[in-house]
Amino acid sequence: MKRKELESFLQQVDDFEKPKLLLEQYPTRPHIAACMLYTIHNTYDDIENKVIGDLGCGCGMLSIGAAMLGAGLCVGFDIDEDALEIFNKNVKEFELTNIDMIQCNVCSLSETISKSFDTIIMNPPFGTKHNKGMDMSFLKIALQMARAAVYSLHKSSTREHIQKKADEWKIKMDVIAELRYDLPASYKFHKKKTEDVCYFMEQHYQEKLPRRC
Ligand SMILES: C[S@@+](CC[C@H](N)C(=O)[O-])C[C@H]1O[C@@H](n2cnc3c(N)ncnc32)[C@H](O)[C@@H]1O
Repeated sequence: MKRKELESFLQQVDDFEKPKLLLEQYPTRPHIAACMLYTIHNTYDDIENKVIGDLGCGCGMLSIGAAMLGAGLCVGFDIDEDALEIFNKNVKEFELTNIDMIQCNVCSLSETISKSFDTIIMNPPFGTKHNKGMDMSFLKIALQMARAAVYSLHKSSTREHIQKKADEWKIKMDVIAELRYDLPASYKFHKKKTEDVCYFMEQHYQEKLPRRC
C-alpha cells in the first residue's frame, strides 16, 4: 500500500466526539500517522507480521494504520471507555480482524506483559499540564513491553530530557523525523494553531546493543 493510500484510508477514522482535556485526547492527524507508520514499516520492517502494542490508542488511528499495513496483531490500550467505543466502531467499519483493545491505565500495566510485543507505537499524553511526567511513564512502560523497538511522538522541547533518560536507561534513541503538529481547534487554550513537535522513534536493542551507541 502506498503512503498516500494509507493516509486517505486514515482520513475515514472517526475521532473523539467529546475530547477529554485531562486525558490529553487529541488524535494523531492522518498525514502524521501515515508518515510515521509508513516509515516504521518500510524503513525498519517493524509492522508486518509483528505483534504491536499501541499505548493510549484513543480512537485507534495508529492501531488501524498498523493493522492495514499487515501487523500480525495490534492491541490498543486506553483508559477511556468512550474512546474505545469509537475505536471499536472504526475497527468494525474497516472490517479488520487483526486488532484487539484493552481498557486499562497504562501506568498500572503489570510486569507480566513485559516483552510480550515486538513493537510499541504511541502518541502518548505529553504530560505538559495536569499530567506532568506522563510521557516519560508511557515511555518507560513501552520499553518494558517491547522486544524490538518503540516508536513514539514527543514535543521537540522535551528532546534533551528524553535523550538524558535514554542514556540513563542504556537505550539507543534516534530522532527519525520532525513534523509540524496541528492541534485541533477544540483545545482553545492554545494560542497558536500549530506547534512544532517532532517524533522520536526509540530503537530498543537490549540484547544486541547493551550499551548506548
Ligand atoms: C494524544 S491521545 C492519542 C490518541 C491516539 N493514539 C491517536 O494517536 O490518535 C492520548 C491518549 O492517551 C489516553 N490516555 C491518557 N492517559 C492514559 C492512561 N493513564 N492510561 C491509558 N490511556 C491513557 C487518552 O485517553 C488518549 O486517548
